[in-house]
Order: sequence, then structure tokens, then C-alpha cells
Amino acid sequence: MRCLGIESTAHTFGASVVTDKGKVLSNVKHTYTTESGGIIPTDAAEHHVKFCDEIMKKALDEAKCSIKDIGLISFSQSPGIGNCLRIGAFAARSLAAITHKPIVGVNHCIAHLEIGRLLTSAKDPVLLYASGANTQVIAYDGGKYRIFGETLDQGVGNFIDSFARHIGLGFPGGPKVYELSLKGKEYIELPYVVKGMDVSFGGLLTNLKQKYDSGKYKVEDLCYSLQETVFAMLIEVSERALAHCEKTELLLGGGVACNKRLQEMCHKMCDDRGARCYVPEMQFLVDNAAMIAWQGILEYKAGKRQDIDNTQIDPYERTDDIIVNWR
Ligand code: ATP
Ligand code: FE2
Repeated sequence: MRCLGIESTAHTFGASVVTDKGKVLSNVKHTYTTESGGIIPTDAAEHHVKFCDEIMKKALDEAKCSIKDIGLISFSQSPGIGNCLRIGAFAARSLAAITHKPIVGVNHCIAHLEIGRLLTSAKDPVLLYASGANTQVIAYDGGKYRIFGETLDQGVGNFIDSFARHIGLGFPGGPKVYELSLKGKEYIELPYVVKGMDVSFGGLLTNLKQKYDSGKYKVEDLCYSLQETVFAMLIEVSERALAHCEKTELLLGGGVACNKRLQEMCHKMCDDRGARCYVPEMQFLVDNAAMIAWQGILEYKAGKRQDIDNTQIDPYERTDDIIVNWR
């Protein structure tokens, strides 16, 4: 069986065909970017309307199949930006209605985790899910993916992007901040905010903006210090989750996990405690539809069935709302 997955939670509209054996036949996307400023929900949704047809056709073409060969349609039903989620849901529901194929809506955060389990040898990992909107440390326990630690305000990616925007870089700012950090030489003391198992970035952002505006610091040093500080916070919480759950695998997910410095720090922490660190290929770290197709297959095989009437989006669903019956 082949599943056509559709992703549209935020800036990316993606489509992908994956087989029920876990072979990714295509993984196509188009991402909304800006020269300055962040995501404007209505503009991102407009972007998705513009590209959805082309991207879905491309996904089928690259997989060398037509809609007739598709046995299941899956889409990101939650969580995300309402305007954006609605476009993917609309595309999936229309396709399912026209073709009479089964449809399954999935949780985007859980899909980030399951694609990592599919594509690496990680079996029962702690997931450090570091993306734009989300920052969570997740592990399987007692039938659910539990959140052991998370951000108390914004996601780490949005925090980095906000600082990038403040210093005049466009969206996404993560890769640009990384490039600047490589030229940083001096560590500048910044607030380090870990509260129990949770992290918070709001105060840090204000502090960084003030430091930048004062003109006393080099932007390269600020970018370097930003990364060293927030990544250390994420590592601390991930390490504690590994110890608490007595797990020995760390899996990375989310766009911020593309950052080479974060990867390096995760590898080091895992090496030091005899754990293994798994990093999926970049196209499967950022928002992608392959993970949505695979999650659809997992849940469909485990018996999930939905009527089209029952596929409304849920922008606020949490990772630990979902009962995991597929593993
Ligand atoms: P979610 O809906 O899961 O919260 P998201 O919509 O924010 O995810 P992702 O693609 O997972 O999307 O992550 C986007 C974030 O990743 C942005 O903050 C961006 O700056 C950052 N990012 C993307 N690529 C890189 C990179 N190569 N290096 C550093 N950061 C990156
Ligand atoms: Fe994502």
C-alpha cells in the first residue's frame, strides 16, 4: 500500500508518497520565506494554496505513480497555525472525497518522532524535538508519548528567528545565526533558564536584543553565545530525561536540529554517558510530508479509520493527548 501524505502546519507545504514497508518514494515541498519579518499566517496559507496542486502532482510523479495507485491519504491534522493547517486538510479531504480513498489525520509532533524511528536504528529513544514552534523532550512511557520537558514560552526556533529578525536577517534566521556564530570568538554571559525540566526563552530574547542595541558587542559573539547557551539548556534537559527514563538513545527532530553545533553537543553528551545519538537526514528533520505519510500508515495499520466529517483540524492538540496503539 502507498500513502500520500500532506504537510501544511506552518511555513512548508509538502507532499510525499511512502509505502507501508517504510520506503520513501518521494518527498517534495515548497517553503514560504520572507526577506524581513516572520510568518504572516494569511500569507503562508496563500502560499500553500498557490503551491498545493503543483507539489502534490510532483510527489506522485517522483514516486512514479498516479492517484489510482494510492491506498491512503494522510495529512497534518494538528497542531499548527490554523490558517495553514486548513489548506492541507482541505486538499486531503477533497482528494479523499473525489477518489473514495481512506483518510487519516495525524499529529505533526508525533510524526517527527516516528520518522526518526523509521529512518535510523533508534528503537525506544528520547526525542529532542527542537523546531520553530515547538521545543519538547519526549519519550514513550505507558502507552503515550510523554513530554518530560518543554519550553514555557516560545519554541527555540522562533526564539532564534526573532533575534535574527531583530538584527535584520530574514526568515528563517536559524541558518544565518549559525553562520555568524562560526565567526564568534568571545562568550558573552547570557541568562541560562532551566526550570526543573522546562526551558524558557523570553527573558533571554529581551537580554540579547538589549545587548545588540547597546552596540557594545559583536554580532558574531552574540550569535555564538546564544547558541552555546540555549543548546546547553536543551542538552541539560535531554540528559536528565535519558537518566530518568533509563533510556540509551537520543533522537533529534525539528528544523533546529539541522544546526551542526547542536548536533555536535548532543553527540558529545551521549558519548559521555554511553548513549547513542541519532540524527535523521536534514530533509526529515525540517517539516516534511514523508513523516506525515508514514504516521498515517502506522495509525491506519493499527486500525484508525476516520470519516471525512471527522477530520477537522486541531491547532492546539498536545503530543500527550494521543494514545499510542501502533507500537
Ligand atoms: P513545528 O511545526 O514542528 O514546530 P516548524 O514549522 O517550526 O516546526 P521546522 O522546519 O521544524 O518548522 O523548523 C523551523 C526552524 O528550524 C526555524 O526556526 C529555522 O530557523 C530552523 N532551521 C531550519 N534549518 C536550519 C539550519 N540549517 N540550521 C539551523 N536552524 C535551522
Ligand atoms: Fe515540524
